[in-house]
Amino acid sequence: MHGKRILLIVGGGISAYKIPQLIRLIRAQGAAVTPVLTASGAQFTTPMTLSVLAGEPVHDTLWDRNSEAEIGHIQLSRNADLVVVAPATADLMAKIAQGQANDLASTLLLATDKRVLIAPAMNVRMWDHPATQRNLATLKDDGILTVGPDNGDMACGEYGAGRMAEPETIVAAIRDALTPAARPLTGRHVIVTSGPTHEPIDPVRYIANRSSGAQGTAIAAALRDLGAQVSFVTGPATVAPPEGVSVIAVETARQMHDAVQAALPADAAVMAAAVADWHVVGASDRKMKKDGSGQPPAFEMAENPDILAWISHADDRPDLVVGFAAETNDVIAHATAKRLRKGCDWIMANDVSPPTGIMGGSENAVTLISDTGAEEWPRMGKDAVAGCLAERIAAHLNGKTI
Ligand code: CTP
Repeated sequence: MHGKRILLIVGGGISAYKIPQLIRLIRAQGAAVTPVLTASGAQFTTPMTLSVLAGEPVHDTLWDRNSEAEIGHIQLSRNADLVVVAPATADLMAKIAQGQANDLASTLLLATDKRVLIAPAMNVRMWDHPATQRNLATLKDDGILTVGPDNGDMACGEYGAGRMAEPETIVAAIRDALTPAARPLTGRHVIVTSGPTHEPIDPVRYIANRSSGAQGTAIAAALRDLGAQVSFVTGPATVAPPEGVSVIAVETARQMHDAVQAALPADAAVMAAAVADWHVVGASDRKMKKDGSGQPPAFEMAENPDILAWISHADDRPDLVVGFAAETNDVIAHATAKRLRKGCDWIMANDVSPPTGIMGGSENAVTLISDTGAEEWPRMGKDAVAGCLAERIAAHLNGKTI
């Protein structure tokens, strides 16, 4: 659940008193909570309690001009990874089933493109009523997930089904809803390199490149989501490494090579780093000074180890080795030649010429080149590219073709 965001809609029921505990538990798992309070929910718990525990403001009206200007309700429902309704009253269930949008909560539920999990809570007769059961069937048909209700004594003195599931049970349901059902890379170890390398000239200067590490980071996260154990060998990237992977931070190409070697054996390796091709021989251990002659220093450069070529020929070579080919012209021809030269199985070829905006941008357009030919993927976000690649790696390692 680390790094995930839950949009938590709190309806009006006595079990709303359990919501502060639910927020605590969700946050303890590393997820963030955006609380939304309905007007009737505010009769049972206060905006102050929710916002203090969530560490974020509570959203409670559709008509707040400030909040609508800063973050519209559509955005609010889309920024989340999962929408949770707890307690989900009979009224809220009816609204969702009918697609009503007459307050903030129902509007968010109609506008979201994320999975929705509801924790119903109501009097047993309301729960058993054919109207509620009809609504429940509609919600399930629409793909809405449910947790509870439990049987037990009710606040109204009756006994039966209708008590909201306990916060621990709701958290378990949230975890399941967030985790892709299939984790086909469980038990597999994958090495991912990412980011640029820095090649020192002296203690304060270095040679680098414009790689942000965004694509490699997204690939590591996607592999992790499919259950892989990921060794993430990263140069000094500008994006933060993902949670839930083993991060091995390096600076130079030579360090990256050593780290990859130490991380073997692995089932697969994805070399997404923009490794510097050369380093300065005998980098100075003191800051270099101008000598007054007006002549710039002449650097002797030496080639760095080619990590992709090396791992492709290593004794304990992973079953699948994937490289990237960042090219500015004749992309497919260069990438095809590069795959053969380096000996990897697949090459993800991409055009990094400045007009594409790919280097440092959020999108990528790749062509997957393998021994069966070149397959052009549509331009999409780097996360989506990562997801597709992770699925392909899983299928390959499991002996399937997709
Ligand atoms: N690569 C590597 N080690 C290097 C250089 C590159 O592992 N020393 C890997 C990259 O991570 C990438 C692939 O090789 O997966 C291709 O990188 P690219 O920079 O496109 O290729 P170059 O080796 O620099 O080839 P060229 O000089 O022909 O562009």
